[in-house]
Amino acid sequence: MFNTHFMEEIKYKAFLTQETDSGFSNSIENLSTVNLEENDLLIKVSYSSLNYKDALSASGNKGVTRNYPHTPGIDAVGEVVESNSSDFKEGDKIIVTGYDLGMNTYGGFGQYISIPASWAISLPDELTEAEAMSIGTAGLTAGLCVRKLLHNDLTPDSGDVLVTGASGGVGSVAVMVLSKLGFKVTALTGKKDQIEYLESLGASSVIMRSGMEEQGKPLQKGIYQGGVDTVGGNILSNFISQTSQRGAITCCGNVASDKLETSVFPFILRGVTLIGIDSAESLLEVKKEIWNNFSSDWKIDLEKITKEVYLESLSDEVEKILKGNQVGRIRVNLG
Ligand SMILES: NC(=O)c1ccc[n+]([C@@H]2O[C@H](COP(=O)([O-])OP(=O)(O)OC[C@H]3O[C@@H](n4cnc5c(N)ncnc54)[C@H](OP(=O)(O)O)[C@@H]3O)[C@@H](O)[C@H]2O)c1
Repeated sequence: MFNTHFMEEIKYKAFLTQETDSGFSNSIENLSTVNLEENDLLIKVSYSSLNYKDALSASGNKGVTRNYPHTPGIDAVGEVVESNSSDFKEGDKIIVTGYDLGMNTYGGFGQYISIPASWAISLPDELTEAEAMSIGTAGLTAGLCVRKLLHNDLTPDSGDVLVTGASGGVGSVAVMVLSKLGFKVTALTGKKDQIEYLESLGASSVIMRSGMEEQGKPLQKGIYQGGVDTVGGNILSNFISQTSQRGAITCCGNVASDKLETSVFPFILRGVTLIGIDSAESLLEVKKEIWNNFSSDWKIDLEKITKEVYLESLSDEVEKILKGNQVGRIRVNLG
């Protein structure tokens, strides 16, 4: 029924990570498309984006990518050029974020990807392809965090919220969406030179990371009604201890540490909720809900926080994100 076999091979350019005798190397290579499996789509990618996970994949982290050579890129937006699924046809514009893309399936840092149709979401009419990849997984994750905080009854009238790792991809979008929704946002950062940037995103105050890096008492003054943590470790531990009655915190990242030392007191004496977020494996329906929010009530101008790069300069950006030095979002132009 479908055109499962003998598709014409297409040559394309991709960022390829290879394992060498001395470690891992990245280069731009010419690759060829392979025949599509049933229910798969071949996508001509217009944009991808750089996320922390991509940098791990591009530097040989086998917790993210088991086998090399590999093309990272957990995000992609583009046009369907071949479809073996009745859900999408040639010419449809789609977004894909997460699932196995860029982990053990060749990802969006290549001009073509083959993916199961079940990973694809139609690009909303209100978003351009470029806007979608300014959002990318980082933005989607920030959106998933905000969704959970709202489900846990956080409201703009119930007190301040904290966003950690605030100048990063997830953090920047979280600050913007929460402030757009009327929350008073405190941004935690390690970058003294990004205070104005964070204020321009809507943060009502900016505090330095150093003040939260030492493990504090299990129950501290309840300053925040909750918020978004992207870093883990002692910062998350102090965040939990500084959260007030019935508060909620989303936990999505580990750039500071994958360890979490805490006590039961914030949970049993203040009813604090700690919510895990995994954007990659979120249900497609939930991802669609977030993309629709970003196309309507949550629409924010991410252009001012987005730097666009081509494959040729991606290695430098990978280094920068691994060192915690990125600010905002990196969009990758595959053109
Ligand atoms: N669970 C999920 O579904 C999901 C999805 C996306 C991302 N993530 C995770 O979320 C985290 C953030 O991702 P991202 O794409 O936003 O990365 P990113 O752009 O690199 O942002 C991370 C930010 O964390 C801060 N930071 C860096 N090193 C730190 C340290 N040692 N201690 C404390 N803060 C530090 C920095 O911001 P400041 O200088 O402003 O503090 C940095 O910009 C990563 O761990 C990523 O793997 C998880």
